[in-house]
Amino acid sequence: MKTRKFTRRQVIAATSAGFLGSMLNYSFRPFTVAGTSQSVLAINGGEKVHKGPWSDWPFWDRSAEPGILEMFRSGRWWRGEGEHVAEFEKKYAELMGARSCLATASGTTSLIIAMEALGVDAGDEVLISPYTFIATYNSVFAHKALPVFVDSDPATFLMDPAKIEEKITDRTVAIIPVHIYGLPVDMDSVNSVARKHGLKVIEDACQAWLAEYRGKKTGTLGDLGCFSFQNSKHLPAGEGGAILSMDEALVDKCYAIHNCGRPRGTMKPGPGYPYRGRNYRMQQSQALILLSQMKRIEKDNDVRLSNALYLDRKLREIPGIIPYRPANGATRAVYHLYPFRYIKEEFNNIPKEKFIEALNAEGIPATGGYGKQNKDGLMEEALTSRGYKRLFSEARLRQWREQNNLPGNDQLCDQAVTLYQSILLGSKADMDDIVNAITKIHKLKNTLRP
Ligand SMILES: Cc1ncc(COP(=O)(O)O)c(C=O)c1O
Repeated sequence: MKTRKFTRRQVIAATSAGFLGSMLNYSFRPFTVAGTSQSVLAINGGEKVHKGPWSDWPFWDRSAEPGILEMFRSGRWWRGEGEHVAEFEKKYAELMGARSCLATASGTTSLIIAMEALGVDAGDEVLISPYTFIATYNSVFAHKALPVFVDSDPATFLMDPAKIEEKITDRTVAIIPVHIYGLPVDMDSVNSVARKHGLKVIEDACQAWLAEYRGKKTGTLGDLGCFSFQNSKHLPAGEGGAILSMDEALVDKCYAIHNCGRPRGTMKPGPGYPYRGRNYRMQQSQALILLSQMKRIEKDNDVRLSNALYLDRKLREIPGIIPYRPANGATRAVYHLYPFRYIKEEFNNIPKEKFIEALNAEGIPATGGYGKQNKDGLMEEALTSRGYKRLFSEARLRQWREQNNLPGNDQLCDQAVTLYQSILLGSKADMDDIVNAITKIHKLKNTLRP
């Protein structure tokens, strides 16, 4: 399959010289307040900027129906007897440029398997990005290991590679960078710290299907890369996941772990069950849905990218709105969410939550990104549990609490605003509505009550 590439040079051109506007032969419809029906914010009873609907998600592909029906009628519903999971693994590895792929039940199970295959065990420490979906934390807890947070760079929304080394201890075994929202992490920097300290690298690419770092797909750059195909994702199947690697033997190990310990390939067989394992298998029906959804992901990603670059260029002209800055080496983002930062001081100190409410009232569905989860109840629940108190000394847990101070991530959580991926499937006129709604809120900020 061919992907229309936007090189870093094009990305820079797009954001600085109106490249996309001319490329798409489209001119911006500017917003005006004076003497129009737009002189009152929608939250204060005025007319909203965007009146139409937004794109639904996901899209069903009717052409997949005969194959799915045939599979159900055949009774070959599980991967043990079925061909479709294996076909999906082959095609996904090809699409992503990986040597090998293992399909799994979910993104969470992919992360759990990947950690087990790379030797993460009870009492170990794993360095992770705090700005992520909670499943990344939970999969570390599943191994009774300690998640140790590396602070975020608010400009990139990602783990700050310069902050990794200070968090390494003699218990650290792995790093989990998260390509959150499909924004590629600076993987050369992560890999070089990992090599220096003998650590494994698991990419949480659960939101980063076909994102690129220095022209290579995210999820193929560490030891193992994990993906989610949950319903909201760009490649949806209700539930589902995958692990990618350039190391086939490592994927054989993942296979055994995900299939009750049954060996295959380079894993030595019997007697009996030679390995511990679980059941984290993908079903045939999931694979068939994924094979049909794969037909559209590249085209959808092109539309998302084009609209995201257009928004970047327009939104940065509004005081107090800062689009995300690509990390070093990031060549293609895929925008599971489109993120920007809101600087309230430029909006009459109106809190972010109120700004989002006003934006929603203008017909633009927006949310506030992830909270400061490193301070959430699940952390103390784990640390005060019998198991963790056995595995980690009181002194280490005290030190962990003292170090759980992440100013970069706090700033990011305070400022982040996000738009869901299907909004980026809209037209250029829809993108203008987003820009005009934010411009309107900025112009009429004095009429907004905190
Ligand atoms: C960053 C990240 N990690 C892990 C997961 C877990 O994936 P799943 O929901 O398929 O278990 C998700 C899913 O939303 C995710 O976004």
